[in-house]
Amino acid sequence: MVLAYSGGVDTSVCIPYLKNEYGISEVVTFVADLGQGEDLEVIKQKALKSGASESIIGNLVDNFVESYAFPAIRANALYAEKYPLSTALARPLIAEKLVNIAREINADAVAHGCTGKGNDQIRFDLAINALGPDLKIITPAREWNMSREEAILYGEKFGIPAPVSKKSPYSIDVNLLGRSIEAGLLEDPMQEPPEDIFAMTSSIADAPNSPQDIEIVFKNGLPIGIGNELLNPVEIINKANDLAGAHGFGRIDMIEDRVVGIKSREIYESPGLLLLIKAHQELETITLNPDVIDFKGIVQKKWAQLVYQGFWFGPLKEALEAFISSTQTSVNGRVKIRLHKGNAIVIGRLSENNSLYREDLATYSQDDIFNHKQAEGFIYMWGMSNKIWAELNSKNK
Ligand code: ARG
Repeated sequence: MVLAYSGGVDTSVCIPYLKNEYGISEVVTFVADLGQGEDLEVIKQKALKSGASESIIGNLVDNFVESYAFPAIRANALYAEKYPLSTALARPLIAEKLVNIAREINADAVAHGCTGKGNDQIRFDLAINALGPDLKIITPAREWNMSREEAILYGEKFGIPAPVSKKSPYSIDVNLLGRSIEAGLLEDPMQEPPEDIFAMTSSIADAPNSPQDIEIVFKNGLPIGIGNELLNPVEIINKANDLAGAHGFGRIDMIEDRVVGIKSREIYESPGLLLLIKAHQELETITLNPDVIDFKGIVQKKWAQLVYQGFWFGPLKEALEAFISSTQTSVNGRVKIRLHKGNAIVIGRLSENNSLYREDLATYSQDDIFNHKQAEGFIYMWGMSNKIWAELNSKNK
């Protein structure tokens, strides 16, 4: 069996649990490198010390950015208009690798350490079902009925190294796209998040006093550079994280509607991805027609919901992406943004070859070519039905 392994309490306890309670003789762990900046060699050793027969590390960073983060940017993907899916996007990719490894080593089951209350279990299970429908999915943490403290004791009994997070009251998920922080005192929605939970973003107080202006360059709806520097996808995310994070932009505090029906209080920091989505959305305002922008709003809202709800490998998401792709060939140009004290303010946008903005039509100067006289006839018809309604209404009063 292959177990998705993070080195945290739940997945570590899973190893002895799978062996003792499920009688599984060989547990192979898989650790995904998603740019979380942890020492994966240490995590690998922890898996082996906890009883794994083999521990595989997979570098998924490029894949994660190119095939998951970039489509999300094109889709301006924000769940509930706020959350850029930094955690949600990683799950189908990890699931894909789990299935691949299961095939390589001839495993007949995969496992993950998700609890029964979150969204991640749904994303893993649905993706595994889509890619490896014959594989059994084993989910110890959904079945074992142990509190966190009991799980730690169980692990200690079987000699897994003491979990580092024993003292941390939070549940934290980290990758290159952002961090999600839950639980502990954050469970009181009125409680302000303490400053020490943040790692990618500066506080507003500590952010520099002087603003910094940057330009983000896009080609076919994908970011290709910042300022005059052309960057590869991973470099772009890193640089956007550094710039926005330093100025304290990219924190989210929200009440989120989970798939399992509960509301939960979530804190995120996702500076780079939020910055790039903001810039991308702005560039669309000058390069896309209003009806396309309007309809794309519906499509991208649905896209974000599907990804949040676990349908990454699904027919509707695929169909929506075909629509999104067809809109992006004209999304070329640059957006100028001022970073300052927690804000990312758009201060300019330019598209050399795809701008639908016409200064000769928009201007109030003498260069105006707009035919003002035509407005009268247009308004006569535009307001006709409303006028009929208003007349009837005043008569009936
Ligand atoms: N609520 C977020 C989501 O559904 C974050 C989940 C964090 N996952 C975790 N295992 N800590 O995407």
